[in-house]
Amino acid sequence: MDMTRRPRRLRRDGVRGLVSETTLNASDLIAPVFVDATTDERVPIESMPGHERVPVSEAVARVEEVLATGVEAVIVFGIPESKDARGSRAWAEDGVVQEAVRRITAETDAYVITDVCLCEYTEHGHCGVLTSEARERWEARRSDPSVADGAHAGEGLTVKNDETLDLLARTAVSHVEAGADMVAPSSMADGQVGALRTALDEASHENVPVMAYAVKYESAFYGPFRDAADGAPAFGDRRHYQMDPANRREAMRMAERDAAAGADVLMVKPALPYLDVVADVRREFDHPVAAYNVSGEYAMLQAAGEKGWLDATESAYESVLSIKRAGADLIITYFAEDIARSLP
Ligand code: PBG
Repeated sequence: MDMTRRPRRLRRDGVRGLVSETTLNASDLIAPVFVDATTDERVPIESMPGHERVPVSEAVARVEEVLATGVEAVIVFGIPESKDARGSRAWAEDGVVQEAVRRITAETDAYVITDVCLCEYTEHGHCGVLTSEARERWEARRSDPSVADGAHAGEGLTVKNDETLDLLARTAVSHVEAGADMVAPSSMADGQVGALRTALDEASHENVPVMAYAVKYESAFYGPFRDAADGAPAFGDRRHYQMDPANRREAMRMAERDAAAGADVLMVKPALPYLDVVADVRREFDHPVAAYNVSGEYAMLQAAGEKGWLDATESAYESVLSIKRAGADLIITYFAEDIARSLP
């Protein structure tokens, strides 16, 4: 054995910090905030211990809690008072996100990002306008649950792509007019970044950046979020529009398309099971890379922590540090506040 190399020399306490390759800062983190128009009080989210849906009247207080930890950015999700086939509360001037963002930007210094999607706003829970075939089948199933779930069987495309783009663009513009600093389209409609960029520019918001959910997989790890934001699909799944977890090369095509369409930040989602993809995007693009450490990644550590099987705080820190080490510059995480509080 070559005893001239002793890596342990650099693992001693005084020198560890000097040779450390990755540092997590509160300014890397984005905290998700759920604003719920159906409630007057804070409602704990059962599958995400420590998180709550807050009424519009508490949105500012909630964001102030985030800021007090040192985290400077939030991403706002809304639960509307009512839903319809097209998700029209998503772009309503007095919609839940618009009202919350207006207050947050008026009263705090937070950097406010909004998620631009329709699944929380449509009564069927899909991220866009249904095709007539999917709509008919869904209506038939509502009266007779034995009718086959066509979308699930992979028979048809559930969501009309091009018609959805216009609604996403309207939603993004309405968020920005309410004060949002950045918009993040997450419906996985082809062309969503270009549609938002064009609409924002036409409305003279050319300085508002778009963070593209460029590489978003059809993931089982979104389960707790769908409870939190009440956005689970009422039938079928999202495999016709979200990415197949088997695909790594496709991620590069997705990121390339969004980069060409003017995305300012490229996101990979989920994070931990897809760190290879985070590293690929980091290597191939010079854009800032975001990673979304999603609800299921949060819930599993919390659940194991509650059981005493692991230390949730330490494993959360290690997870988020690893996401940064893999190449993410911005990390959306439900651990944002806990981690920021524990940083030196
Ligand atoms: C909206 C959206 C989802 C998430 C973020 N934006 C749900 C989904 O695509 O099903 C998931 C976030 C999480 O799980 O933390 N489309």
